Amino acid sequence: MDLKDKVVLITGSSQGIGKETALLFAKQGANVVVTYNKNKKGGEDVFKECKKIKGALLANLDVTNDESIKNCVEKTIDKFGAIDTLVNNAGVLFNKDFVEQNANEIELQIDTNVKGLIKMTKAVLPYMQGQNSGIIINIASAAGKNAYAGLSAYCATKFAVRGFTQALAKELPKGIKIYSVNPGLTATKMTNFQGVNPKKVAEVILKAAEEKINVESGGDVDVWKYVLEQKPSDAYHGVKRRIGEMFGGNEKG
Ligand SMILES: NC(=O)c1ccc[n+]([C@@H]2O[C@H](COP(=O)([O-])OP(=O)(O)OC[C@H]3O[C@@H](n4cnc5c(N)ncnc54)[C@H](OP(=O)(O)O)[C@@H]3O)[C@@H](O)[C@H]2O)c1
Repeated sequence: MDLKDKVVLITGSSQGIGKETALLFAKQGANVVVTYNKNKKGGEDVFKECKKIKGALLANLDVTNDESIKNCVEKTIDKFGAIDTLVNNAGVLFNKDFVEQNANEIELQIDTNVKGLIKMTKAVLPYMQGQNSGIIINIASAAGKNAYAGLSAYCATKFAVRGFTQALAKELPKGIKIYSVNPGLTATKMTNFQGVNPKKVAEVILKAAEEKINVESGGDVDVWKYVLEQKPSDAYHGVKRRIGEMFGGNEKG
């Protein structure tokens, strides 16, 4: 799908992978809906950059809040009249042993990474069904395919995203495609800026959105197959101490 003039809604586009995806999609001529949760300044900066190139919209979005999801989707339809591509990118990670994760940390990972992603999809799908076309990109992870100590709850959420993607693909009409894009370690705030440049991950997300990949709907787009310096096997291990310290967790293994 050529992204020129298409409407793309990206959750969590105030920084990191979502930000780079927003900027890259705008360069392809897409109308980008830039969303932020807490990082308003980041969202505004990305919005300004997108707006220089193409029509763009800035929206506050908390994917753990039903009303916020509804408002964001309605705002998008009011402005652009359609949603052609949804990039479910918003996510959180707590890196420490499961017994040390408190209930809030566990719930936030599930509410954001799984329930938020499913609810966003539920809110956007009726518009895609009305058009009988659309692409949904779910940002899962290498941690949705491999297990890492210190990331048990996070791994559970990312395995869930891949399961949801695979099952929903079997229900969707031919015109609507859905993929899991699985980055390995990527240099964003989430990893204390260790890993590959998020611009590289954005390029793979773009390939998936343009369907320039040989993957069936429901399938995995593993970023390390396209970005050679990225390896799923060592994703997170080398930086565990730093991720753990950043989130106040412990370090092991
Ligand atoms: N970095 C990696 O190594 C890596 C590897 C594999 C997969 N991933 C996945 O890639 C995605 C992006 O992560 P990142 O590395 O770019 O992390 P990041 O820099 O920490 O960005 C996370 C984004 O998610 C947004 N967000 C968090 N909670 C939200 C909520 N409740 N509602 C809406 N937005 C929310 C944040 O918004 P605000 O800042 O505005 O609050 C931010 O824009 C995540 O799904 C992550 O799990 C990352």
